[in-house]
Amino acid sequence: MEKKLKIAVLVSGGGTNLQSIIDRVEAGKIKAQIEVVISNNSKAYALERARRHNITALHMSAKKYGSQERLDEELLELFEEKQIDLIVLAGYMKLLSPMIVRKYRGRVINIHPGPLPEFGGKGMYGQRVHQAVLSAGLKETCASVHVVDEIYDHGPVLLERKVSVMPDDTPESLAARVLKVEHQILPEVINMYAQGKIDPGKIREDQS
Ligand code: GAR
Repeated sequence: MEKKLKIAVLVSGGGTNLQSIIDRVEAGKIKAQIEVVISNNSKAYALERARRHNITALHMSAKKYGSQERLDEELLELFEEKQIDLIVLAGYMKLLSPMIVRKYRGRVINIHPGPLPEFGGKGMYGQRVHQAVLSAGLKETCASVHVVDEIYDHGPVLLERKVSVMPDDTPESLAARVLKVEHQILPEVINMYAQGKIDPGKIREDQS
């Protein structure tokens, strides 16, 4: 049997990006297998989405395990046990611990709903990104997939796709349009890893 890329998807909320990955995997459009979905939020609807598709869905948080260190150990153990090749942050609203980032250097990716590095960083997530784009008067924004390093939204961008800003856009309307593009580019980048088009060892920091 051909080897499939084993992925872990980390989520915090509704999980529409997770759904876009599940749908492509099930349609055979990407040679990957979702081994596990993990959420820091026990109520995340994303967990329900995973369970509906018979994917292992776990609530794992620092609170649940008593400390960040313990959570990190549990996560690492799980990733090793499941032989994870790629960790996908799909609406995960936490910084992944540097210990995990170091171990999986070049093999952790994140979807971001705006231009990087300008509209990223701590506190710049979800609607706040779209609000900032509108306040800056941009005519164009984008959805971005980047490699995760130790700093929020900082690692090299692997793929970004432009989205026009309309004169009457609200943060909500813009978010909806960007989200549709996120649903295309995140599976595309996973597929690039699955096809060996991205070599994690060769991703350079100066790509950002
Ligand atoms: C997405 O728009 C994603 O780009 C954003 O959260 C949303 C999650 O939606 N992530 C960030 O802002 C991280 N900095 P989803 O749960 O429906 O996939």
